[in-house]
Amino acid sequence: MAPGHLPPSIPLCHLDELPDGGARGFELPGRTDGLSVIVVRQGRQLHGYVNSCPHLGTPLEIFPDKFLTRDGRHLLCHTHGALFTLDRGACVAGPCKGDHLPPVPLELREDGQVLAQPPEDWGS
Ligand code: FES
Repeated sequence: MAPGHLPPSIPLCHLDELPDGGARGFELPGRTDGLSVIVVRQGRQLHGYVNSCPHLGTPLEIFPDKFLTRDGRHLLCHTHGALFTLDRGACVAGPCKGDHLPPVPLELREDGQVLAQPPEDWGS
């Protein structure tokens, strides 16, 4: 991709399909490497992250869409228990403490459609 050109936004879902106070994972069309996006919803606030733990690069979840701790206050990497803040993806406990989940900018359109802008260096 030419420098300065952003990859196209990818439609993920409608806001109503995201549990308020929860999180969902989305595979992206055309990807064969298994990387996916996590979307956290807090009301109309959405936070997107690459689903890849900074510790070993594994997906955070073991079961589909099970990203949060029981109390719903953190994202949890099920491999070694790292905890990440919902609003910044900052690791606050575990082997990658101080690191971050790579952010994925999201767009919430007026009609409720949610789109992701994958990181430029993510390739396609
Ligand atoms: S792979 Fe996530 S904490 Fe080790």
